[in-house]
Amino acid sequence: MERNQLETPLFTALVEHAKKDPVQFHIPGHKKGKGMDPEFREFIGDNALSIDLINIGPLDDLHLPKGMIKRAQDLAAEAFGADYTFFSVQGTSGAIMAMVMSVCGPGDKILVPRNVHKSIMSGIVLSGATPIFIHPEVDPNLGISHGITPESVERSLEQHPDSKAVLVINPTYFGISGDLKKIVDIAHSHEIPVLVDEAHGAHIQFHDELPLSAMQAGADMAATSVHKLGGSLTQSSILNLRGNLISPNRVQAVLSMLTTTSTSYLLLASLDVARKSLATEGQALLEDTIRLAELTRAKINEIDHIYCVGREILGTNAAVAIDPTKLLISVKQLGLTGYDVENLLREKFNIEVELSDLYNILCIVTSGDSEEELLKLVQALQEISADFKHQSDQNVEISVLLPEIPVLALTPRDAFYAESEVVPFEQAAGRIIAEFVMVYPPGIPIFIPGEIVTEENLVYTQKNMEAGLPVQGAEDYEMKSLRVIKEQLATK
Ligand SMILES: Cc1ncc(COP(=O)(O)O)c(C=O)c1O
Repeated sequence: MERNQLETPLFTALVEHAKKDPVQFHIPGHKKGKGMDPEFREFIGDNALSIDLINIGPLDDLHLPKGMIKRAQDLAAEAFGADYTFFSVQGTSGAIMAMVMSVCGPGDKILVPRNVHKSIMSGIVLSGATPIFIHPEVDPNLGISHGITPESVERSLEQHPDSKAVLVINPTYFGISGDLKKIVDIAHSHEIPVLVDEAHGAHIQFHDELPLSAMQAGADMAATSVHKLGGSLTQSSILNLRGNLISPNRVQAVLSMLTTTSTSYLLLASLDVARKSLATEGQALLEDTIRLAELTRAKINEIDHIYCVGREILGTNAAVAIDPTKLLISVKQLGLTGYDVENLLREKFNIEVELSDLYNILCIVTSGDSEEELLKLVQALQEISADFKHQSDQNVEISVLLPEIPVLALTPRDAFYAESEVVPFEQAAGRIIAEFVMVYPPGIPIFIPGEIVTEENLVYTQKNMEAGLPVQGAEDYEMKSLRVIKEQLATK
């Protein structure tokens, strides 16, 4: 059935309900804001508070959608090319955990790139699945990981034909996509479903110049952060499902297990209106956004010692398409870390970036940006380049430190629940780690529970901390110690 994508059944019904101004004897106890701190109420506004509601009879229930939430999810499914769309009020992290737990149980194998977001590893710990890691292709110039190749998926499936799923990141945080369609064809030839971490791809379905979306490539499930690049409120995401390899009832049941019973209707309504906007104006808005980003990319590339990544990095099987709305800017030639530049932009120019690492900064461009704002970024980078050009030497090849992939000695779940002890950071090499360590953002673990700590990865962690980057995940947030699996001495 053709649906009218201009309709917003969830948002409209909420507004209609609020207009009736019912006397409320239900939660939330702030009762349209009257029972909350007046300063916050004034700031946030009566409109938002009037639709901060809960799953009373007329307003449907995300756990068993039959009314306005179901209609909104059906419209989203049509817009995203899915058979079913499930709304998530727990970000893409919640959707990813549900995705993994829908297909994997204890002991089941799942093929995953090693550069996955921590939520995938959380799903693996919770389900008890065994990850079979695939090495992503690494860009030695930028110090970042791209996608995985169809060939490596083929090889892994030959070695592990009993795998329950293949998980792919499409596109990566940096906007690079591998050959998802080929990977889907390979996995499907083994009747194995493909799950996609589409946290950075809410918009890609809606413009031809952007990488193929998970649903367009024929994948079975995709967890998509509408809040990141699709225009909804922070924490609102969707889980798309198509084909007949995974049961929608199972997905609904698992999602329900992991989801709060107090679902935010502000978040749900924002998904409804974001879908409308993407479906009805997405193409035109993205056209302008892509032009603006490309123009900015060209201007940044005129600046000495600074490089903004473009299509020239494509051409391998792990990097076949790029999202041009991501401005990945390499600053290493200035003798500065990405984190230094992030701070300079903040302190001197009042500009906030999406993330930085040892070598790069990442800026995202959306329809919410203007030409003037992007010009400010270009001018700030021009000034930084001029201020630090004395440090740069084009002839010197800056060496890029890349974390090696440690050996997995125990499943992440076994390691997480094993008897453990704390050892000084510098004495952890050779031990099996019991906790996650990552830089967030991007949230890709340096260590996963069950891996054997290596000296090189300790050095890499140290370098990130020295640069001031947010290394987190470990119990000791100062990272003076690490939690490792207790070693058993043989009884004499
Ligand atoms: C690749 C990737 N996957 C998943 C997530 C989780 O998304 P969310 O923040 O919506 O929970 C992120 C968030 O940064 C991410 O970068």
